[in-house]
Amino acid sequence: MVDINVNGKVALITGGSRGIGYYIAESFVLNGASTIIITSRKQDACDKAKAELDKLSKENGKKVTIISLACNIADDKAFEKFYQEVSTKIDKLDILISNAGAAYGETLLKHPIGAVRKVLDLNVTAVFQSVQLFHPLLVNAGTKEDPARIIITSSVAASIATDFGGTYGYLASKAAVSHLGKNLATQLGPQNINVNIIAPGIFPTKMSKYLVEEKTDTLINDNPKRRYGRKEDIQNAVLWLCSQQSNYINGISLPIDGGLYLVGTSKLSKF
Ligand SMILES: NC(=O)c1ccc[n+]([C@@H]2O[C@H](COP(=O)([O-])OP(=O)(O)OC[C@H]3O[C@@H](n4cnc5c(N)ncnc54)[C@H](OP(=O)(O)O)[C@@H]3O)[C@@H](O)[C@H]2O)c1
Repeated sequence: MVDINVNGKVALITGGSRGIGYYIAESFVLNGASTIIITSRKQDACDKAKAELDKLSKENGKKVTIISLACNIADDKAFEKFYQEVSTKIDKLDILISNAGAAYGETLLKHPIGAVRKVLDLNVTAVFQSVQLFHPLLVNAGTKEDPARIIITSSVAASIATDFGGTYGYLASKAAVSHLGKNLATQLGPQNINVNIIAPGIFPTKMSKYLVEEKTDTLINDNPKRRYGRKEDIQNAVLWLCSQQSNYINGISLPIDGGLYLVGTSKLSKF
């Protein structure tokens, strides 16, 4: 039997308070992590997620410390302060899940420039800064046999060129971080830090609420597996990417989308 786990590992999950980041936190709780730091803009949302994760841990006889610390990571000064505070609590970081993201959809001619900028600040610049800030702690954690891991949450939107609901900044941001991740994989690989990218399809979360409400039939019928993503789809893939067993996997972009990236979507825009 192969035991895929993150035993004893310290993980930081941006956007860990809900959705895909929270799914990953659950999986780490159940599979051996020693410490998980979750962050999002709202302290009460982080605290609520911590309470749920503590409960899950207790119910399953696990021993894990959950640290809940809010930060608007799109604000580079605030992110730096966050790093200073986190680095007083941990001396190594085995896993960085750079996952927080936002989307905005509007027709081409009405699309506010400010919205594009805002999306890029969070989805690209903050991903870059997360790697820059936490690099020393990742170096402290990585070994040849079990490197530290950076997982960047990109999207199927990075690779399909069909309409994605007027999310111009979003699709550009996701293509950007996918490429950034591959570049970082080549630079950080020799330092015992593996960098991989996940590219989810449609998972029903707060972010995808509009699309799911408006376009369910299209989204399901377009998908070769005829369903949305489930939390286990994310959990199993990310757990493996962060386990010792995947130590030679570096620089991949893993679609978690039932094959949607191969076929694209029908027109999603309501405009
Ligand atoms: N759901 C999908 O179908 C799908 C598909 C492909 C890729 N993705 C990607 O998956 C990632 C997670 O998305 P999700 O679907 O789980 O969305 P979600 O439910 O909206 O979660 C987004 C998370 O990011 C946090 N966040 C937003 N702005 C932030 C900021 N400025 N600073 C810190 N944290 C911030 C949110 O908390 P606060 O609001 O409290 O800050 C929340 O924890 C994103 O990168 C998204 O692009 C999602």
